[in-house]
Amino acid sequence: MVIQIKSLDQLKTMRRAGLVVAQSLELMRDAIAVGVTTNQLDAIAVDHLKKRNAKSNFLGYHGYPKVICASINHEIVHGIPNDRPIADGDIVSIDFGAIVEGWHGDSAFSVGVGTVDPQDQKLMDTCEESMWRGIAAGKNGGHLTDISEAIEKYINSQGKYGILREYGGHGIGTEMHQDPHILNFGKAGFGPELKPGMTLAIEPMITRGTAKTNVLTDEWTVISADKSNGAHFEHSYAICPDGKPFVLTALDGGKERLGALGVEISDLLS
Ligand code: MF3
Ligand code: CO
Repeated sequence: MVIQIKSLDQLKTMRRAGLVVAQSLELMRDAIAVGVTTNQLDAIAVDHLKKRNAKSNFLGYHGYPKVICASINHEIVHGIPNDRPIADGDIVSIDFGAIVEGWHGDSAFSVGVGTVDPQDQKLMDTCEESMWRGIAAGKNGGHLTDISEAIEKYINSQGKYGILREYGGHGIGTEMHQDPHILNFGKAGFGPELKPGMTLAIEPMITRGTAKTNVLTDEWTVISADKSNGAHFEHSYAICPDGKPFVLTALDGGKERLGALGVEISDLLS
């Protein structure tokens, strides 16, 4: 396993890619409403990529046909945008990435639309907070599975959720998916040591029921085997040369959410 180490200049370019991703996701988040289709959200992302002179890392990836993934309710990840209008009470997960000057960003969020079942809201909040806890745990000098344990522990402290086992986070850099693979469960203290210049995409995927999944005949959409609703959050973050983290795909670099967990972010990329 080779983990690509990025220089400060390379991290600065990755931040630019991360900002394109963050801003596009904000535009999509603002557009999500009852009656809107996921193809319309994809079009917003296509448009923003063009405006910012960035390229899609999803389009054409193993033949993937769109620039976003849109997964609704029991679709957990990798749903393909379509013309079905979003309905009241749906929970919508959007995953999106971009390339700037050869450097990749990757991020995802879930959001409820209209009248949201409180249990679905708790599912999404749990998934999001587990991502932040994973990033906070993935410190310079620690080990890869410190992230995995922090994610799993937080999720399990919140209730009975299924944590997907066949999918996880990953290194990111000059490719969207690099070593190492990052499990969303496990025991801390194992795997490679975390070092400055590493950039990792942390992405917990959970359901209100089973961790078991099936892939639809479209060969992409991952659904929960018991059709329970799922959530997915993702951010790409860097361990900066000063040893502090910076969340490349968060508008504020992760200042607020990591700060709440007692972690100070780097000022090298602001
Ligand atoms: N962004 C996803 C991930 O988080 C991968 C999307 S697969 C694609 O790793 F084909 F849609 F690009
Ligand atoms: Co990813």
